[in-house]
Amino acid sequence: MTPIRATRRTVLASAAVAPLATALVTTGPAARAGAPNILKPLPPRRFVDYGTNAEMRWDSVDPARYHTAQRHLFVRNHTRTPTIDPATYGLRIFGDGLREPRSEADAHVLSLRELKRLPRHVHTAVLECTGNGRSFFASQQDEPASGTPWTLGAVGTVRWEGVKLRHVLRRLGVSPRAVAVMATGLDDEFTSGGTNYGRVRRPFAIEKALDDAILAWAANGEDLLPDHGFPLRLVLPGWIGIASIKWLGSLEVSRRGLTSPWNTTFYRMTGGDYPADSPPLTVNPVRSAWELPWAATLPAGVTRTLTGRAWSGAGPIRRVDVSLDGGRSWRPAELEDPRGRAPRSGPADNGTGWTRWSVRWRAPRAGSYELLARATDRAGRRQPLVTPYNAQGYFFDAVVRHPVTVA
Ligand code: MTE
Repeated sequence: MTPIRATRRTVLASAAVAPLATALVTTGPAARAGAPNILKPLPPRRFVDYGTNAEMRWDSVDPARYHTAQRHLFVRNHTRTPTIDPATYGLRIFGDGLREPRSEADAHVLSLRELKRLPRHVHTAVLECTGNGRSFFASQQDEPASGTPWTLGAVGTVRWEGVKLRHVLRRLGVSPRAVAVMATGLDDEFTSGGTNYGRVRRPFAIEKALDDAILAWAANGEDLLPDHGFPLRLVLPGWIGIASIKWLGSLEVSRRGLTSPWNTTFYRMTGGDYPADSPPLTVNPVRSAWELPWAATLPAGVTRTLTGRAWSGAGPIRRVDVSLDGGRSWRPAELEDPRGRAPRSGPADNGTGWTRWSVRWRAPRAGSYELLARATDRAGRRQPLVTPYNAQGYFFDAVVRHPVTVA
């Protein structure tokens, strides 16, 4: 394969483009005093605003629309959204895992324009926060876990557009001895409890980098919004949200396993019955949600179609069972997108989107009811009734008991 035409140019560019966090990025407390953590509007009808994070409300989801519009997508920021000038932006790629090793100072620097000249790749995938559903550890299992008390709205499905990371790496040349890639964001350093953890960064296996990882500059046909990683983010389909580093500043390709606090301290199971050396989390579990307000009121004696969605990091959804009597009896829901693909998209989409489902329900006598949905994916994983506790409240995948009042 031809090396990126720019091998020489990128060397030159590495001198011309400012190093990280100087001219490229408007961020930092001084530059952004008083600025909001999230830049897009967060209308209360659509979002629960947690300051640096914002949760999508499931009752604001349009059942007819497969993809999640960026303006409706949840936001999870460790600090706040930076403003990055696309004209001076450059993605830095370095490390001893390149066929011709490069130090950080001598990194390849790829401009957006150079990246956009590479073969375009479009792929629909779920984006979901590891802590999605966390609040149910407290409300449903009486085991509170620390962190943003998401219900089920830290998830969305997006049609990403960009270039496969595999393509970029193969053109630059990857050593057969490469084992890991570290992705680092350009947002502020993350400080918590008096510890500065540095820039948000997380390593992942070279196998994922050479499989379906995407360098994305657009979502649903539009440039990324600043809150979702403009001008470029990494997308690792099926993997936990933190793996998809926003405002991607650099990729280090390494011959050694790499660590950062985001795969050692955070995003691995701790507490409960988990061993001290639980591995870093990667693939998201199976989950499902009703497109209904929490504690919705429904008219008695009226038959209506109730809708929801199910998704899994390990493959498309095979079935969804629902219970409309609090778990006493179950029946299968109708699946609209059983292959985990947006309508009219081809097999290239690989089934990493979600599946819409529906069920007809004649709301019985007035009273309180619990609606349950239980999804099974094609990898054979089924939502459990209880999720074993972990201290940071990750991977709440148990069946959620959705209360409704029939009046
Ligand atoms: N990348 C950077 N640079 N900084 C961040 O704070 N948050 C991560 C990930 N990528 C984050 C990041 C987490 S925890 C999640 S769940 C997703 O981005 C959220 O993506 P979104 O805000 O576009 O929905």
